[in-house]
Amino acid sequence: MILSAKNIIKSYKVANEKVNVLNGINLELFDSEFISIMGASGAGKSTLLNILGTLDSFDSGGLQINSNIINNNEDYSTFRAYNIGFVFQFHHLLHEFSVLENLIIPQMLIKKNNINAIHNAKNLLGELDLINLENRYPSQISGGERQRIAVLRALVNQPKLILADEPTGNLDKENSVKLLELFNTIKENYKTTIVVATHDEFIKNYTNRNFKLNCGILIGN
Ligand SMILES: Nc1ncnc2c1ncn2[C@@H]1O[C@H](COP(=O)(O)OP(=O)(O)O)[C@@H](O)[C@H]1O
Ligand SMILES: [Mg+2]
Repeated sequence: MILSAKNIIKSYKVANEKVNVLNGINLELFDSEFISIMGASGAGKSTLLNILGTLDSFDSGGLQINSNIINNNEDYSTFRAYNIGFVFQFHHLLHEFSVLENLIIPQMLIKKNNINAIHNAKNLLGELDLINLENRYPSQISGGERQRIAVLRALVNQPKLILADEPTGNLDKENSVKLLELFNTIKENYKTTIVVATHDEFIKNYTNRNFKLNCGILIGN
């Protein structure tokens, strides 16, 4: 098992008032799965993804990722660099760096030496048919290509888990399809588990399992 969440509860304090967002989330994720978490805007999808990604704290409950027990009191930045890749609605590539360099930078965080980092980045671009973009800058590629490179950046440190928050939110249909096909290729070829939070029902055509977040509870298979 790659991830286990047990009875996760999360509230925010807004102007002295407690707002419950997650009311007992249970979830188990296994190797090489592509999963969706659907829900209306404001349902708590981003909150849940941020908790699963150790980016946000939770009130109570249990969370284990790759057999590591996650609590609220530790700095998980190094853990994240090795174990979790993130994709967001906007690509967040660094504009002053080439595509290849954008794929090298995350590897510096896990202290890969330069030669290995370049080799890994080129390999990944080759394996996923994007090597033609290696020397371009983000401004010189299309929006769909930028998002696909953002996915490769999430993958470059070979995490077992990729969390994607509305990754197709800014893409047209054609580029959404390409992104979802890329996720499926990655799932198959690298045995990565991918979780997509989305309100786009269309994504269900590509996933193995689907959950719905409603009233702070996750329902699905
Ligand atoms: N930092 C925050 N402080 C207070 N309330 C928040 C915060 N972040 C999110 N919320 C609230 O939590 C609920 C869920 O938000 P979010 O997780 O962003 O939903 P979704 O991603 O499904 O649109 C919303 O009602 C939102 O207003
Ligand atoms: Mg959101």
